[in-house]
Amino acid sequence: MANALFRTKNIEQSIQDTDVTEGHGLRRELSALDLMVFGVGVVVGTGIFVLTGTAAKDYAGPAVALSFVGAGLVCGLAALCYAEFASTVPVAGSAYTFSYTTLGELPAWIIGWDLILELALGVGVVSIGWSGYLTSLLSQADINLPESITAAPGDGGVVNLPALLLVLGVAVVLVFGVKLSARFNLVMVTIKISIVLLVIFAGLFFVKAGNYTPFVPDAQPPAAGHGGLKAPIAQTLFGFDPQIYGVMGIYSGAALVFFAYIGFDVVATAAEETKKPQRDMPIGILGSLAICTVLYVAVSLVVVGMQKYDTLSASAPLAEAFRSVGKGWIATIISVGAVAGLTTVCMILMMGQSRVFFAMSRDGLLPPLFAKVHPKYGTPHVSTLLIAVVVAAVAGFTPIHEIDVMVNIGTLFAFLVVAASVLILRRTRPELPRAFRVPFVPWLPIVSMLATVWLMLNLSAETWIRFAVWMVVGFGIYFTYGRRHSRLG
Ligand code: ALA
Repeated sequence: MANALFRTKNIEQSIQDTDVTEGHGLRRELSALDLMVFGVGVVVGTGIFVLTGTAAKDYAGPAVALSFVGAGLVCGLAALCYAEFASTVPVAGSAYTFSYTTLGELPAWIIGWDLILELALGVGVVSIGWSGYLTSLLSQADINLPESITAAPGDGGVVNLPALLLVLGVAVVLVFGVKLSARFNLVMVTIKISIVLLVIFAGLFFVKAGNYTPFVPDAQPPAAGHGGLKAPIAQTLFGFDPQIYGVMGIYSGAALVFFAYIGFDVVATAAEETKKPQRDMPIGILGSLAICTVLYVAVSLVVVGMQKYDTLSASAPLAEAFRSVGKGWIATIISVGAVAGLTTVCMILMMGQSRVFFAMSRDGLLPPLFAKVHPKYGTPHVSTLLIAVVVAAVAGFTPIHEIDVMVNIGTLFAFLVVAASVLILRRTRPELPRAFRVPFVPWLPIVSMLATVWLMLNLSAETWIRFAVWMVVGFGIYFTYGRRHSRLG
């Protein structure tokens, strides 16, 4: 029994699968530049455009820039581990595939199940952020959509219709194929980066030194209803009274804005569609992460310099910072860019999810339906559309804050497993060609794991409980379906 649960896929076999499985192979047509565009396209999104406001206002103050530095460091360490893996095992499915070849089937299933939180729920978070910017843009043009159709029940509405429709629309585009999507993506990424640079350089003219003091506001007890299970678990474990701001607030802020970095790892899910994965994967993953870290720290410093942190907007902070200094037209440009840019993020996350399902289904852990490829477009159309319907429902009816912390804990857990897998694979298969090798093994992966756990501990007890429940459901599905249908079995 234990042997079956920890049976591993042969790496050579995994790589070969991508060629031989009739009708189950994806086309190899992406270059390093495509991957980098793909990476920046998914990484820069709701995190920087929306969560910067909440993180500064409710947790870190102007020190939110340090939260971005901290979350960026955690991601940088994890990115090195992902890069080694993606260059060693270049097949669809990312962390899922990595763990199947190293830790075994059950851990792989756990990761695949866990990636649903990151990818599918991530689409939900981004689409809600998109809906917020769209609503604000329309209101700038005097078109005021009623709250009943622009917010989920928990947020004072009935349904978030724009978010719901975006998810469905994106799925349709994806079904028509990678190349079309990649070109579309390039245009969107250009727009998004231009907007981010506009915020940085135009915003510099409106920065007031006074807004930076205090840079780290004094620690305070949280508002009523935000202690207990909603307080970061680290504060309880280490005997702090629940608090916001102060040094602990920087960590809470980091656990929140971590979402802004999610996606560099999704680049690894496209390994199977990459022309020269061994060379291009590390460039794509590390390059996109480096670009984003620099942009985020700059944007957050500018925004908290333009507007006092406690008056920042929670739904469209970048645009509102410009409105607060009387530059409404710049705010409008930013909103247009955000609406365009967040569309790409949704696309790529959804594509990542369908590829993970694809890999899991090809391995027999999910029904064959999920590995069906469209005869003409070469895309996993059935799984894409299925994902879209479920995520659209979630995005339409759930408040953003309820799901973004789930995305974060799920992703951080995957980072943990990938770092562990790097160590394991170095021992079990030291001879495998690795185009990219993590430096300072075993220390770097170990530090990566510790840093990841620390960020996870800065999420609330409530989030941990929900995560545990999600995992238990996953175990149930594995033991009733996956274990019996596994191709490896
Ligand atoms: N990192 C992506 C975002 O911020 C998911 O929207």
